[in-house]
Amino acid sequence: MPGDPRPIGVFDSGMGGLTVLRALAARLPQERFVYLGDTARLPYGTKSAETVRAYALQATHLLLSEGVKMVVIACNTASSVALEALRDALSPVPVIGVIEPGARAGVGATRNKRIAVLATEGTVRGGAYANAIRRLMCDAVVIQQPCQVFVALAEEGWAETRATAAAVEDYLGPLFARPDAPDTVVLGCTHFPVLAAAIQRHVGDAITLVDSAETTAGAVADALAERNLHARDASEAQSIRFFATDSPERFARIGAIFLGHPIDEDDVTLVDLKMV
Ligand code: DGL
Repeated sequence: MPGDPRPIGVFDSGMGGLTVLRALAARLPQERFVYLGDTARLPYGTKSAETVRAYALQATHLLLSEGVKMVVIACNTASSVALEALRDALSPVPVIGVIEPGARAGVGATRNKRIAVLATEGTVRGGAYANAIRRLMCDAVVIQQPCQVFVALAEEGWAETRATAAAVEDYLGPLFARPDAPDTVVLGCTHFPVLAAAIQRHVGDAITLVDSAETTAGAVADALAERNLHARDASEAQSIRFFATDSPERFARIGAIFLGHPIDEDDVTLVDLKMV
């Protein structure tokens, strides 16, 4: 039976979603990907739900115009406040968000049923993680901590700096000094996995850190299988095309930190979403 060679669209407000793309590419080596980072309008995490929904709709229409067979919202803020609107607007193209897979990873890891979710202001305000976790584990205690400054630190490539250590201390110190501290931390923002080592050092090895990248890749693999959308022809090398709404040079340079390998600036196309 022939497979479906159309690419999978992956969308984030910036470059953090490349941590999800990395897991997707490793899990699905036969698939092609189109990644869009709305770098001109980052951060989404400080904006209202209405604005994030409008931006996400514009962005995902660009992916549709590239002929994608599925869209992955590799942005926690957009998944938190815009997933239903995107599913309605893009139907019948399936849309997968990162919140449900991230919640699943957190519930799978906790032993004391106390889970901290570190996220942007917008994700915390929307409450989607707390709802998703309680749907899976009704007696879970979810402590949501907005950590908006982590986004800028990650984008600067400042994972191992005093500034990051200070921000980690300020955001997490009080939470983990309590006797009833959570035993699990969900990195509920696509930018935060690059700060994982600094966070882990602060909270200690007894605390489990999880992010939604791996579980999202699993959810995408399942959705492709359910709908018979897998690319079966592995003869061509995996291809990834990048779109950014601001500086391809910066996208390639900083994006490499999130993707875990170099990005060629010539593979990044500058796009104006207002023209789509
Ligand atoms: N991609 C966003 C998220 O995962 C973080 C960056 C932003 O605030 O736009 O929530």
